[in-house]
Amino acid sequence: MSAVIELQNVFKTYQMEKVEVHAVDGASFTIQEGDFAAISGPSGSGKSTLLNMIGLIDLPTRGKIILNGNDVYKDMELSKTTRLPHKLDVTLTELRRKNLGFIFQTFNLIPVLNVFENVEFPLKIGSSPATDSLNAQQRREWIDFLIETVGLTQWKTHKPSELSGGQRQRVAIARALVTKAPIILADEPTANLDSKNGDQILELMKKLNEELKTTFVFSTHDSKIVEMSNHVIKISDGHILSA
Ligand SMILES: Nc1ncnc2c1ncn2[C@@H]1O[C@H](COP(=O)(O)OP(=O)(O)O)[C@@H](O)[C@H]1O
Ligand SMILES: [Mg+2]
Repeated sequence: MSAVIELQNVFKTYQMEKVEVHAVDGASFTIQEGDFAAISGPSGSGKSTLLNMIGLIDLPTRGKIILNGNDVYKDMELSKTTRLPHKLDVTLTELRRKNLGFIFQTFNLIPVLNVFENVEFPLKIGSSPATDSLNAQQRREWIDFLIETVGLTQWKTHKPSELSGGQRQRVAIARALVTKAPIILADEPTANLDSKNGDQILELMKKLNEELKTTFVFSTHDSKIVEMSNHVIKISDGHILSA
């Protein structure tokens, strides 16, 4: 086993009018390769903030984030940084593309694209090391394979508006996997689904976790996800209670 994500004393502090709000207050933990990990806590506890920092979408106020061996903000004075220097921005984009796939609570599919095109989209907008070597036919086969894996082959040419919530989340899962990123981050992926669809989505992610060895990190207050996880990180009011 090896660590794929490591946080050391990570803070995210918002300066409100008079007070500082520590949305994440000194988080330290490690996610191992192959983990099916849940960040669990009530609404407002800091789950999304934490996940967005792991996803290199939000900048921490201070602390260390090590992603697949890369000390992301090494030598940077984070607390003084409001805008990323261009060079670091490029580095972060590369790190994200190489390592991370994202699944959102509200699916975030592109309405004018059909299922196949939505899954294909990440391959069209930039390079990704694991899929760049595929030729056009291999690419199509890989996308078809993912669509088959999430059970949507007969919906391949349909638009998101013609799909149920559960089906849309399946498209989002296939899209998150298309670049062969080793880590998938999912912010409350079942929150907008009824419990039957939520369970099916969970089973599907668990299967992918076992078969493709993809590491999953969720934020959730769904007790089902917590039960299925091998690693639970409990957060309350920005504090990590257990990890
Ligand atoms: N951009 C922001 N500015 C100020 N406060 C924020 C901002 N984003 C989040 N917060 C605060 O940080 C805390 C954690 O929020 P969040 O990470 O969204 O929690 P969760 O995902 O667990 O519901 C909340 O108190 C929230 O109000
Ligand atoms: Mg949230």
